[in-house]
Amino acid sequence: MTEVRVVILAAGKGTRMRSPRPKVLHRVMGRTLLGHVLAACQGIGPVTVIVGHGAEEVQAHFSQEPITWVLQREQKGTGHALQQLLTPLRDFQGRVLVVNGDAPLVTPYTLQRLVQAQTAALLAATVPDPTGYGRVFCSGPYVRAIVEEKECTPAERAHSFINGGAYCFDWPTLAPLLQGLGAANSQGEYYLTDVFQHLERVVALEASDWREVWGVNNRAELSRAGQALNQRILEHWLLAGVEVIDPVTTTIEVTVDLAPEVVIEPGSHLRGNTTVAAGAVIGPGSLIENSAIGAGSEILYSVVRNSVVGERVTVGPYAHLRAGTVIADCCRIGNFVEIKNTQIGARTNAAHLSYLGDSTVGARVNIAAGTITANYDGMHKHPTILKDDVKTGVNCTFVAPVTVGEGATIAAGSVINEDVPPHSLAIARARQVVKEGWKPRSPQEECAHED
Ligand code: UD1
Ligand code: CA
Repeated sequence: MTEVRVVILAAGKGTRMRSPRPKVLHRVMGRTLLGHVLAACQGIGPVTVIVGHGAEEVQAHFSQEPITWVLQREQKGTGHALQQLLTPLRDFQGRVLVVNGDAPLVTPYTLQRLVQAQTAALLAATVPDPTGYGRVFCSGPYVRAIVEEKECTPAERAHSFINGGAYCFDWPTLAPLLQGLGAANSQGEYYLTDVFQHLERVVALEASDWREVWGVNNRAELSRAGQALNQRILEHWLLAGVEVIDPVTTTIEVTVDLAPEVVIEPGSHLRGNTTVAAGAVIGPGSLIENSAIGAGSEILYSVVRNSVVGERVTVGPYAHLRAGTVIADCCRIGNFVEIKNTQIGARTNAAHLSYLGDSTVGARVNIAAGTITANYDGMHKHPTILKDDVKTGVNCTFVAPVTVGEGATIAAGSVINEDVPPHSLAIARARQVVKEGWKPRSPQEECAHED
């Protein structure tokens, strides 16, 4: 087998994004543009990424990945980007797969086709609107030339067979052509695509879905790429046995993992490292980010972030689970309940209007409406511990740090700032005082009461 190296072009500024962030670091459906391209190249061969604009930021973002970085100090075009490899790949005899770093829809399957082609190959597509792309002209089965948009005659501009920005070359053949590239064009750039005038027997492999070749140059294209990616992801999950009620209002990032028999109701968004187990129902109207949702749980009109929800838990409507929330099986978290950095034991209910922060709540606890942990004294966060089988009354405040022992009951309206022993009742509120006859009845009231 011929050795294959992957080269990704990611040095460009991305002026048309109108953003200080390097273009390839813009995110879409859970990954950066470059992240999508890297994922598509996975397993093909060692990866080199050409960086330039914002190089440090790009390198820092992918510091965990086994990437060889090559710096293109000035960005003088895609041909100039590849020229940076002439020295490092001096003795390389194999093939190079070159992919634009701004093509998030390109698939592993298509890149494999390029690599496995018998000759040099480029990814092409017939598109409804070729504006901005290099036009690919063939003689018989082989590519004769690629003409960039800015160099096109009006007749050439109408040509809709375009360059998808992914190529596989035999490096020893390509290298001398790169050396010979000129920049005598309207942009004053070294176009990689000029090498095709001198290469023989290059095949144009057409993408099965023309949207696969989309390059992202501005925010409108970023958003369109996001929609196309989302559609692809939804189709994948639908075929894997997930029920998506309304694909138009549902987004699922590429990093999410779903079990069969999951139901996604309209208006729901699943992001980051989220997993949802079998039979869980997400939505309508829920956002789940970097969280695990257990089998058979339901998340209705709620926001769940960086949390773990066990099995057969109901969350919502209108609950907010924030970072560090861990909920065991069979709990019920109801409306207007906010939970942060808190562990909750099995079969515990917090059905309405509560805030639990920095707490450890046992099993079978009943959190009544209006239970609030006062976890922050203005400088530090403090823990609240409610042991198994505790029952809080409505409108209780726990002034942390405080521990309530197993089976204890807290009376309604209590402000608890001292530990409560197990199986006791704590009442911490002012006694009611009744002042009889405090206000004499007014004459009107007398009348009103007469009939
Ligand atoms: C390029 C192709 C065009 C093709 C299109 C597909 C050229 C000359 N044109 O056009 O034929 O239809 O992609 O999307 O190649 N880059 C560098 N260094 C540079 C310039 C660019 O690394 O000096 C990188 C960019 O970061 C980007 C990629 O190369 O990831 C493509 O550059 P871009 O400027 O977007 O090329 P297009 O004009 O889209
Ligand atoms: Ca581009």
